[in-house]
Amino acid sequence: MTRRILVTSALPYANGPTHLGHLIEAIQTDIWVRSQRLSGHECIYVCADDTHGTPIMLKAQQEGTTPEAVIAAVGIERRRDYADFQIGFDNYYTTHSPENVAQTHDIFGKLVAGGHIATRSIKQAYDEKAGMLLPDRYVRGSCPRCGAPDQYGDSCEVCGATYAPSDLVNPLSVISGTPPVERESEHLFFKLGDFEQMLREWTGGGALQAGVRNKLEEWFGQGLRDWDISRDAPYFGIEIPGHPGKYFYVWLDAPIGYMASFRDLCNKSGLRFEDWWGADSSAELYHFIGKDIIYFHTLFWPATLHGAGYRVPNGVFAHGFLTINGEKMSKSRGTFITVRRYLDHLPASHLRYYFASKLSDGLEDMDLNLDEFALKVNADVVGKLVNIASRCAGFITRGHDGRLADVLPDMPLFEEFAAATPRITALYDARDYSAAIREIMALADRANLYIDQNKPWLLAKDPLRAADVQAVCTQGLNLFRLLMGWLKPVLPEMAEQAEAFLCSPVKGWGDLYRPLLGSSIRPYEALATRLDAKQVDKIIEAPPVVAPPAAAPAAAPASKPAKAARPAAAEAAPPATITIEDFQKLDLRVARVDKAELVEGSDKLLRLTLDVGGETRTVFSGIREAYEPGRLEGRLVVLVANLAPRKMRFGVSEGMVLSAGPGGSDLFVISPEAGATPGMAVK
Ligand code: 2FM
Ligand code: ZN
Repeated sequence: MTRRILVTSALPYANGPTHLGHLIEAIQTDIWVRSQRLSGHECIYVCADDTHGTPIMLKAQQEGTTPEAVIAAVGIERRRDYADFQIGFDNYYTTHSPENVAQTHDIFGKLVAGGHIATRSIKQAYDEKAGMLLPDRYVRGSCPRCGAPDQYGDSCEVCGATYAPSDLVNPLSVISGTPPVERESEHLFFKLGDFEQMLREWTGGGALQAGVRNKLEEWFGQGLRDWDISRDAPYFGIEIPGHPGKYFYVWLDAPIGYMASFRDLCNKSGLRFEDWWGADSSAELYHFIGKDIIYFHTLFWPATLHGAGYRVPNGVFAHGFLTINGEKMSKSRGTFITVRRYLDHLPASHLRYYFASKLSDGLEDMDLNLDEFALKVNADVVGKLVNIASRCAGFITRGHDGRLADVLPDMPLFEEFAAATPRITALYDARDYSAAIREIMALADRANLYIDQNKPWLLAKDPLRAADVQAVCTQGLNLFRLLMGWLKPVLPEMAEQAEAFLCSPVKGWGDLYRPLLGSSIRPYEALATRLDAKQVDKIIEAPPVVAPPAAAPAAAPASKPAKAARPAAAEAAPPATITIEDFQKLDLRVARVDKAELVEGSDKLLRLTLDVGGETRTVFSGIREAYEPGRLEGRLVVLVANLAPRKMRFGVSEGMVLSAGPGGSDLFVISPEAGATPGMAVK
């Protein structure tokens, strides 16, 4: 059955450029949307700039311009940034729009009519030195709940609590650095507690990830407090009807911006707003967000919608933060990479692939490790995927006038590939993109193995075997078509180029079940090029983090995000148990030691050159005392293939070889029986 699905990603603040943190969410959402469309569903993706609030007002003041000019400029850049990253919005709008004003007034009116708005006087922070009321984010102090120092006045980045600036312990004005004084002012409150029953039912209804549900249980336990939704002038936002000089707090009108963007789309298309947002709508609604804004999207937002007689979301999908080379991205610390900076040096597809290969459905943070990024893209996209097309295409174009064979020489292999389609699409649906990519790459290995075994380049030397060359390459290109088709949500532009090359569009997953036979293809043009490490380094201003030279065996962990709060002992001690999911994160492979060499300047390490099934890896292993290099050459070992690459004094180590024993000269590499072949997964 065709589903109607409306999807959003969080609205980025219009006070700064798009950065890789925004991008990870847009890419996560975009992949999901594209996969739903390939499944044949009507899937609409809207977003907008989040334009209101004090930071934008102050930024405009500082720049001697108006907030309208600031948000207009950011809006133009933003659309270009996302378009260049192939984010397929159906509409990208702004919360500073007549549609959003009307929708916010409508919702507020209904909440007032329902008795869900209270008015009372509160004490507010006032900066006497600067002569202004201080918005939440301009007061910093210690979190009233967990005590974390230096938190904003509206929410805690450490424990997720939301509160009023007056709740902070030891508050200071960010503008003047002086302690604020209190002033009384009348504010409007949304009575969140009115919705506890409804929210508990919604939470229990399967709309949320386990980690999010747990957070909510915690918040329910603490009691749902009224939410202050008004701010006093001067404020850049939507004025509250009937309350001159008072404005809606930006977090009230921001999610309403999802509706406003959709309304704008309705005005431009034949869609009907009520069909998607009405209380009894049969359409589905999903929000992709970062884990820092769960409270807003799982408590305030569904309650607001319900209180105003609209439908509630079917799901809220939260993701973790992006770290770069193990460090948290932070505007204030200047460690964030803008989308434009990235695009000035590198192609968008490569980052889409890398992010997809690391995204799952959980809340864990995700690291962009630049060494690993280059290695993975080169190994997977260039070395495995594109390689199949480039190995096969020339024989068809030159030797067979661009025409594919009429039959496949190995139909069972094709069918085995095609049968993976439902598994892969189910993984996309479950937002387990990393598992989808692992599955696709394992099949890419199979396709390469097929070509290695059938050696069209040797067959081509014998004029009598021309038909075999055509058959083998037709098989290879058909396997390539499936691989590229499955990757279409991740690499939409590359997939379209591949479709043009094969003269065969993929409009839905169903198009992948029939092989291409007897048809013509166009001459092959490179679909992707290798990443050069020097080029990659250009996307950050500071040089990449270099780990100190390791004296420890190769089993030492790769450089980790520095987390000050974590005691050193906890880093070293292995956890008592791990889950099967933890274990499945390991990509263990059989590798053959092609070369083992001494490392000058180290009496602990050997430099191993490993054959991992067509791919060559260099690994520094701390087994020098236990093994003369000659004893290792030709042996099979077990490699942790997906360990983040680690920069050492002697070079980059691309994985870890497993060994057993107490250490020193008492170490034994774990060696699979002869018969295992390099590249095989270890289960
Ligand atoms: O956290 C943020 O970046 C907000 N601008 C997200 C708003 S999402 C939605 F509610 F509008
Ligand atoms: Zn806290």
